[in-house]
Amino acid sequence: MAEPVDSYNVDARSYETLYREEQLDKLKAVLKIGRLLCERILDVGCGTGLLTKRLAKRADFVVGLDVSIGMIRHGGRKGKVNFVLGDANCLPFRDEGFDCYASFTAFHHFNGTKAAKEATRVVRKRGHVIITLFRMVAQAQQEVLEREEGLKLLTKGDAGKDILLVFMRAR
Ligand SMILES: C[S@@+](CC[C@H](N)C(=O)[O-])C[C@H]1O[C@@H](n2cnc3c(N)ncnc32)[C@H](O)[C@@H]1O
Repeated sequence: MAEPVDSYNVDARSYETLYREEQLDKLKAVLKIGRLLCERILDVGCGTGLLTKRLAKRADFVVGLDVSIGMIRHGGRKGKVNFVLGDANCLPFRDEGFDCYASFTAFHHFNGTKAAKEATRVVRKRGHVIITLFRMVAQAQQEVLEREEGLKLLTKGDAGKDILLVFMRAR
């Protein structure tokens, strides 16, 4: 894990300049499906909070978690977002504390099995897990979330350069 975190700490200054439009396109695709109207959202691997701050307009309580202090710091004004330094593979939150777990272009950095277990644990029953991820890892990660975690796939589609997967925690 040290490698991506270190590089994001260094790249934090240029991240939004380089990826702002690309990431906003992904959020647009997610908002189209309309499952993000909820009270408590957790954005995992939130980076500078580029998308987290926009999610905060749609929810009462938003937490952005990232393992890179550089990315979190670079985000600037936080508005009503609560930023937490932490690891997607071992989330510092109680069971079923969120209506929605979201993660944009970050899951390829996580331990797929551990992060999937954590995503399922922190979302309430009938809550949503919404992930955009690189195409080459999307199918394998979908299978982990469905088979190992029992999540129900509701939507699969394009989110800009990523694949969008939307699941519901059925049990
Ligand atoms: C490509 S950036 C995406 C940032 C943000 N989601 C966005 O759309 O702008 C990937 C982020 O994942 C974070 N990350 C990598 N490994 C992580 C881990 N184990 N737990 C939490 N965040 C992690 C990195 O620090 C980085 O900020």
